Amino acid sequence: MYLLIPAAGSGRRMGSSRNKLLLPLLDRPLLFWTLSAAKASESIRWVGLIGQPEDFQDFKEIVVALSMTKFVHFIPGGSTRQESVYKGLQALPAVAERVLIHDGARCLITPALFDHCAREISQCPGLIAAVPVKDTIKVVESATHLVSGTLDRGQLWAAQTPKGFEVERLTQCHIEGNRQGWEVTDDAALFEQCGYPVKIVSGEETNLKVTTPVDLAIAEFILRQRNRR
Ligand code: CTP
Ligand code: MG
Repeated sequence: MYLLIPAAGSGRRMGSSRNKLLLPLLDRPLLFWTLSAAKASESIRWVGLIGQPEDFQDFKEIVVALSMTKFVHFIPGGSTRQESVYKGLQALPAVAERVLIHDGARCLITPALFDHCAREISQCPGLIAAVPVKDTIKVVESATHLVSGTLDRGQLWAAQTPKGFEVERLTQCHIEGNRQGWEVTDDAALFEQCGYPVKIVSGEETNLKVTTPVDLAIAEFILRQRNRR
């Protein structure tokens, strides 16, 4: 299976001066943990690591430390996640029929979830890992801050990554999205907007995206617990 890892962000919400994926997490850069799960997965054979060229030296050191130089390929990213993913799609080998996309910032993914998504994507054109929403979600009028509705939680799922797609269809969706000026934070949204089905596979509650300093502290706690076992 081919895996693209978007890692070309800046981590603005982390409030750090550099890419959050290079911040230390249990004495290793955060991205080390994401890549090490990809390495341990049985299905991933090719990794496209999408980054800003100024981070490539640091990324290379992680790849060398994990002895992954043979199957990690460096791809220059864009100014939005959507652009970065599109560049990743263009860098895939021509023989790649299906691809998984997993955010570098979701560093607690397990190899088993990669393998589960890799199996499932052979049966459907698009999928996302997701978990049932635990909170009650309110719809709020932005001007008045008054609640205008409460969504039925039974129908709500929080999207994670991996997402998986047929490469040709997703590329076509990106081209259509660019033409129409759709801006999305989620590849599956492009797929949905083009009318293609996206299947949900069960994600993992611990597969959180490290976005703010609190997430980093939680991720560290979970990793410590895992390493103790
Ligand atoms: N990403 C990317 N290219 C971009 C922006 C983001 O590849 N131009 C990647 C990030 O590196 C991250 C994933 O997309 O692994 C999810 O993005 P997010 O959590 O928003 O990370 P950042 O954009 O770095 O953070 P922020 O939005 O707080 O600046
Ligand atoms: Mg971002």
